[in-house]
Amino acid sequence: MLLKVASIWEQHSALRRLPCEKCGDEIYIEAAHISEPGASERLSGKCGGCGHARIIDFDISGIDANAYPALMARAWPPPAGPPYPLAEQKLPKVVDEALTTKKIADRWAIIGGRTGSMGRAFLCADTHANGALVIVKLPREPDDHDALRREIGVYMQLCWEGGRRSAHVLELLNVVPTKLTTPWLVVEVVLPGPNGAVTVDDWLREGLITTEIAHTWLSHLANAMLHCAALIDGFVHGDLKPDNLLVDEGPTLKLFDFGMSGDGAHAATVGAPAYRAPELWSNVTPTTMSDVYAYGCIGYELLTGSPPFRAREFDPDALRYAHCYGRPETDERVPQLILSCLEKQPDARPRFNPYRAYKISLGESWEGFLANVVKQFEAHHCTASRDA
Ligand SMILES: Nc1ncnc2c1ncn2[C@@H]1O[C@H](COP(=O)(O)OP(=O)(O)O)[C@@H](O)[C@H]1O
Ligand SMILES: [Mg+2]
Repeated sequence: MLLKVASIWEQHSALRRLPCEKCGDEIYIEAAHISEPGASERLSGKCGGCGHARIIDFDISGIDANAYPALMARAWPPPAGPPYPLAEQKLPKVVDEALTTKKIADRWAIIGGRTGSMGRAFLCADTHANGALVIVKLPREPDDHDALRREIGVYMQLCWEGGRRSAHVLELLNVVPTKLTTPWLVVEVVLPGPNGAVTVDDWLREGLITTEIAHTWLSHLANAMLHCAALIDGFVHGDLKPDNLLVDEGPTLKLFDFGMSGDGAHAATVGAPAYRAPELWSNVTPTTMSDVYAYGCIGYELLTGSPPFRAREFDPDALRYAHCYGRPETDERVPQLILSCLEKQPDARPRFNPYRAYKISLGESWEGFLANVVKQFEAHHCTASRDA
């Protein structure tokens, strides 16, 4: 079989997610390589489910061999300095070594880096696995250990306890033990798509999102949240925002960054201001309902291009006021379901799980989806009144 692909993005995604010939399960081949130019290329992998080996031949004649490295470099600039610029002198030896040798734990060769609010993600070639690409995440400052530890705990529950996988939740591949108090994370890589865009935030900035993509992603995010809620009782993500949603080939959305996540009993920080629910501005612990609010903000932004509330400059007071008292501008592109997620009172937000409404929309037209949401509302109200 020679599978024709138009981009390396497509090739890597196909490699990692073709159905297994033996068990029919989705194949999760944890290997993605940067291709050499040529007409065809043979890559092999293993089914994550039954272990059946798989060889895939790709027709890569349509790939512009020069374009992708440039995109990669744009998305993953080589790290200019060490990951702990502020506290360099306090660097534990092991981190120092990683940076001077450009290798983490003597295994993962650093290609490029991206910085988040708590951690630094490095795109690395795994020298123990034929240069397969992965992401290794380290804390940004030595004190950011709590978030990373929490994240590992959440990933372990999502990946291992449940034993199920979701196409819309990023996967943990490995944990690197270090001499520090916190191990580092190795997760699957999501490679840059059009214009080098990696996250939903990048897609928004590049103006790449159509209405159809917006609705598809809302259903993907819904699926991801349902998956997490099924495996972790009372699951709260705690930091839902476009920067914490990756975009893989499809385009498919993948939820990640579980540094603020947990079962709701933890008191993490309260998420990014543009997506922060009114109740969180007085420092209440994030809840499922504050995730619903953030989901509403993301929905509004995907459909209109801007979040429901914006401050001209970074002005937390103006933003707090808008979230607590303002009304989002009405826009016919935003369905009632999304607006109701933005209610000020957590109790007034959709009582049924709004994620479920979007879940049933998978693979359907927008009209079909709306009809289903209506049905879902009716079913909910009927059950509620019957119960009463
Ligand atoms: N698996 C991944 N694939 C592609 N890009 C990633 C991946 N993990 C992280 N990134 C990039 O690195 C950034 C920082 O990672 P993140 O886990 O969000 O750190 P933080 O917890 O500090 O926000 C992300 O916003 C994203 O741009
Ligand atoms: Mg992040």
